[in-house]
Amino acid sequence: MIYDIAINNCLCFVDDSFINANVGIEGNKIKYVGKQNVKGDIEFNEKAVLIPALFNAHTHVAMSLFRGYAEDMPLMKWLKDKIWKVEKKLKPKDIYWGTMLGITEMIKSGIGSFSDLYIYMDEVAKAVGESGIRAVLCYGMADRGEEERAKKELEIGEEFVRKWNNEFNGRVKAIFGPHAPYTCSPEFLKKVRERAKEVKSIVHIHVSETQWEVEEIKKRYGDTPVNMLERIGFLDSDTVIAHAVWLSDEEIKVLKKRNVSVVHCPVSNLKLSSGIARVRDMIKSGINVALGTDGAASNNSYNLFQEMKFTSLLQKIKYMRADAIKSIDVLKMAVKNGYKAYGINGGEIKPEKLADIAIIDVKVANFYPLYSIENSLVYSAYGSEVTHLIIDGKVVMEEREILTFDEEKVFDKVEKIKEKFI
Ligand code: NI
Repeated sequence: MIYDIAINNCLCFVDDSFINANVGIEGNKIKYVGKQNVKGDIEFNEKAVLIPALFNAHTHVAMSLFRGYAEDMPLMKWLKDKIWKVEKKLKPKDIYWGTMLGITEMIKSGIGSFSDLYIYMDEVAKAVGESGIRAVLCYGMADRGEEERAKKELEIGEEFVRKWNNEFNGRVKAIFGPHAPYTCSPEFLKKVRERAKEVKSIVHIHVSETQWEVEEIKKRYGDTPVNMLERIGFLDSDTVIAHAVWLSDEEIKVLKKRNVSVVHCPVSNLKLSSGIARVRDMIKSGINVALGTDGAASNNSYNLFQEMKFTSLLQKIKYMRADAIKSIDVLKMAVKNGYKAYGINGGEIKPEKLADIAIIDVKVANFYPLYSIENSLVYSAYGSEVTHLIIDGKVVMEEREILTFDEEKVFDKVEKIKEKFI
C-alpha cells in the first residue's frame, strides 16, 4: 500500500500519551497508525514528534491589522475609543490581507484550524480557501436592541452560512455568531438560536468576559449572562462560548448540564485586565474547554504554545496550587478540544480522523533534555519548532516554508494598509 503521505519514526500523540508509531495518510484522512513501516508518495522520516495540528478556537484574525495599535487600556475603553473607530475604516480587501497575515502566523506555529467571528467574512472565507487552512467562520452579528438592525444582521449571518458552509472540501464550516449578550438583545439571541437549530448550526458567542458585562446584564435583565442565556433556552451542546471568565459555581453547573463548550483566552483576558477564568473547576466538572488567542489587537500573537503556558501558569496562581492543572490537560485543550467544540472529526491521530498534523522538531536547545514531551510542549516550546504542517491531507508548510501562498506579498500588502490607520 502506497499512501499519499507516509510519516515514519515518530513519537505520536495517541490516546493522550506519546508512543512510537508510523502514520499513513490517504486523501484528507489518517488511514494508518501503527508499528509497520509505511510508504508514500510523500515520505517523512523525521524522528520528530507528531501532534494533531493546533486549534485556535476563538479569534478575530484580521485584527492582526491592529496589532500594537492601541495598548494598555481596559476592554470597553479600548473598544469605544480605539478599535470601533478604526474598524469603520476597514474595506473588504483589508480583511482579506489581515486574515492572510494572521493565517501566516498561525501556520508557522502549527495551528491548522481557527474559529473566527468578525466582519466582511466572505474575505475571510476566501483567505481560508487560498491558504489551505481549516476554519469555523461566522459573521459577528449585533442588533444592539434595534429591530430593523436585528433583521438585517440575521440576514447577513444566514446568507454567509448558506454561501460558505462546507466549501473547500469541507475546510470551511460556516456557523452563527451573535457577538455577546451586551450587544445582542435576548429576543435577537432567541431568534438566532431558533435559526441555528433549524439548519443544525453551531453558535459561537462571547460570554462573561468582564465583570462590567456581568453587572450590565444583571442591571438590564436581573440575571447573570449565563443564567439569562439559560432562561431563554440559548445554551446547549451546539453552543460555544468564548471567555467565560466570571462564573459562579451554579453557572458552571449550568454549562455542564447543557454540554456547552468554553474557549479559554488567557492572554487576551490578562491584557485587557478582564480576569482569570476558572479553568480547573470547569475541567473538573467535565466541561469541554478549548483554547483561543482572541484577536491580535488584544494578544498580540496567534500562538497557542504561548496560550498553553499562560493557561497552566495562571491556574496555579488562581488556585494557589502548583498542581492546579496538568500539562497533558493543557495540551488537549490546544490540540483536541477545539475540534470537539465545533463538531469536527479531527484532533486525534487515529485512523479515519482528518489528517491535520503538526510535525515538531525536538532537536532544539529548549527541548533538551527530553524527559516528558507534554511538559516540553506546554512549558518550553515557542512554536517555531513546528517544521511541517499537514492540513486536510495536504502539506501546507514544509521545512517552515509555506507552500500555498507567498508570505512576502502578504507583508507588503499589510504595510500599505497600515498607512490609513496612522
Ligand atoms: Ni473575542
